[in-house]
Amino acid sequence: MKILIKNIKSLVQVEETPSLKIEGKAMKNLACIEDAWLAIEDDKIVGFGKMDDWEGITDWSNLTIIDASDKIVMPSYCDSHTHIVYSGSREGEFVDRINGLSYEQIFERGGGILNSAKKLADASEEELVESALKRLNEIMWQGTGAVEIKSGYGLSVDAELKMLRVIKKLKDLSPLTIKATFLGAHAVPANLKGDKRKYIDIIINEMMPKIAAAKLADYCDVFCEQNYFTKEETIEILTAGKKHGMIPKVHAEQLSNFGGVLAGVEVEAISVDHLEFVGDKEIAALKGSVTMPTILPGAAFFLSLPLPPARKMIDAGLPVAVASDYNPGSSPSGNMNFMLSLCCVQYKMTPEEAINAATINSAYAMNLSQTHGSIAIGKQANVFITKEIPSYSYIPYSFGSNLIETIILNGKVITE
Ligand code: NIG
Ligand code: FE
Repeated sequence: MKILIKNIKSLVQVEETPSLKIEGKAMKNLACIEDAWLAIEDDKIVGFGKMDDWEGITDWSNLTIIDASDKIVMPSYCDSHTHIVYSGSREGEFVDRINGLSYEQIFERGGGILNSAKKLADASEEELVESALKRLNEIMWQGTGAVEIKSGYGLSVDAELKMLRVIKKLKDLSPLTIKATFLGAHAVPANLKGDKRKYIDIIINEMMPKIAAAKLADYCDVFCEQNYFTKEETIEILTAGKKHGMIPKVHAEQLSNFGGVLAGVEVEAISVDHLEFVGDKEIAALKGSVTMPTILPGAAFFLSLPLPPARKMIDAGLPVAVASDYNPGSSPSGNMNFMLSLCCVQYKMTPEEAINAATINSAYAMNLSQTHGSIAIGKQANVFITKEIPSYSYIPYSFGSNLIETIILNGKVITE
């Protein structure tokens, strides 16, 4: 099976020498080829260049030709932080917040994550697979080709395993590349309120060995925040996860400056995410670390939080990734095109910086930058073709529109 895309107005994010991540000033660069071709064989990118230098077709067998005149081709987005497996929705809490309650107050009343945990406890694996597949289909048509999905609405041994089994099934059923994260430490469950120690022991001694034995998680994550888990508990849980082969990630500094970034850097987390309350100390700690600072503009927008200092982090020489945080409480959207618009409008990132953040850097945040996140020979053929648009900057500019026309994942054109 071969695909040739020709007459591409602009082939975006091409790499001759692939990089694992892009940081600081370099984030302003986005290599593009104007009037380009792209060749795909089986599930891989096998060639690209300028139409002027194209040698034509010698072997027509099994070849699909796509004309992309006036259209842009980009690597599919990598969404490195979602909670796409959940049951029901939480628009009641959305209205409560409009009427003045805070996200924290809703949690203290037993809502928030605990509300989703209640709903998930009653849902069957089949129902969860079916609803998550609909969401995966939705984000696929919005340009996402790889996605990380967390557990964390289970909060009991059985329900956390149920969520992770659902994610495993999604890996088999969806054309998207999927990574699984164990987020048992998302909140202390209602039945153990006041006995956090007991819950942490359950996470470490009961959940982790079972999850590791069944190979259900690539990553381990903790919500490091007041009323959730402290910096020390975060380090303890993530260190235990590492012993079970799970790479650390942290929900850090979302609602207060609480030590999540420092915990993440200490345990060599692959990413620290949210970052609304990051200060100079955290920026200094991230310099030279392996940890990808990841902003989740959908959650900051939806909860009206202060904005994470993305501009300051990039200007300090750090890389920045962007992800959607798609979940029913703080970001009920996985639309990476909208995340790009937020990056540009609210965070004053240039379209080039935003696209780097949503492709190669978010691929790094899920250990996929060797195979995803750019147009490079040998990489997975996960790309999208836009409708006729004037430039890549038109994507974040036209917020709210879906400008994507054709999706290619694993070298196959996706049909509805
Ligand atoms: O990333 N901050 C913690 N966890 C999620 C929200 C979960 C929820 O409200 O359901 C987040 O924003
Ligand atoms: Fe999250």
